[in-house]
Amino acid sequence: MSTVKLHDKEFRISIPETEIIKEISRVANEINRDYKGKRPILLGVLNGCFMFAAELLKRLDIECEVSFVKLSSYQGTASTGVIKEVIGLSESLGGRDIIIIEDIVDTGLTMQRMLESLGTREPASIEIASLFLKPARLQVPVNVKYSALTIPDRFIVGYGLDYNGLGRNLPNIYEAID
Ligand code: IMP
Repeated sequence: MSTVKLHDKEFRISIPETEIIKEISRVANEINRDYKGKRPILLGVLNGCFMFAAELLKRLDIECEVSFVKLSSYQGTASTGVIKEVIGLSESLGGRDIIIIEDIVDTGLTMQRMLESLGTREPASIEIASLFLKPARLQVPVNVKYSALTIPDRFIVGYGLDYNGLGRNLPNIYEAID
């Protein structure tokens, strides 16, 4: 399939699965090297991270734990706008090395919120592993230590990422045709 239609939008293939897997393997090697002798907790951010998390974890040969969280959006007051709350954090994270697993860092606001929330639990360290990074869109400084693929400012779907709920199952990455 070189193009797909999801809802009202057409998408064309932009990154094939083989290339994604190659870059995930590279990230896994970096994590294996950096966390040797440690026991990090990999904390996946649902829903988008599920495919990246599975492929990354299969390639880790260090001792590690895995857990998942979600971010709920709700409308705050007019002054605070939309606030995202991290839900599902049950583990004790004090003194632990955390690696957040995210599908894509776009404006960086989601990761900024995660870092704020996790920081209150006094972990030993927090790093971010993201499948995609759109540097042109960053609004806040977020350090993504492990990034598989850097992409231009285009809306993409597939490999866990969706357009209004559709497209998460696609094994390749597709970009919107405008
Ligand atoms: P941020 O807070 O702007 O960095 O947004 C991060 C979230 O926005 C991601 O976890 C995705 O759910 C969503 N997102 C950002 N860009 C895209 C895209 O190109 N396709 C699908 N979802 C996206």
